[in-house]
Amino acid sequence: MNARTTRTLAAALSLTAALAISGCSSDSGGSGDGKPKMTVSGGYMPQPVNDKMAGAFMVIKNNSKTADKLVGVTSALSDDLQIHETKDQKMQQVPSMDVPANGELKLERGGNHVMFMGLKNTPKVGDKVTVELRFEKADPVKVELDVKERTYNAQNSTGH
Ligand code: CU
Repeated sequence: MNARTTRTLAAALSLTAALAISGCSSDSGGSGDGKPKMTVSGGYMPQPVNDKMAGAFMVIKNNSKTADKLVGVTSALSDDLQIHETKDQKMQQVPSMDVPANGELKLERGGNHVMFMGLKNTPKVGDKVTVELRFEKADPVKVELDVKERTYNAQNSTGH
């Protein structure tokens, strides 16, 4: 066996081992270290102007060593929820958004946000709107959004 063959074989073996480990942890479900866990804080929706659209903002925290992605959002309030980023003051839909390992994804005014397209009713200040966040790896997370005044901005209220 020459050196090259040995190297190739070693690489193949380590790849197999890695696959076996990740396959195992996702199957067993509940060991805790394989799957990212998300916690969401500060979720709110500024009171929509009409039933055409509404934005939602929150901070999604990934408490694990595994990077993940927000891939979708659902709610009873609308059949079409989109993930938007803001570039050059214009917002555009994206298929997913990164939630870094041991990091957070901030959805905030003027930046990334969740967008409801077409509302089944128009929530008022004090109402709650439930959304479910879907991730590539982590379990879905249900979040209650507080409906706030139109001008509300979480960043200002926390004095950040
Ligand atoms: Cu938008």
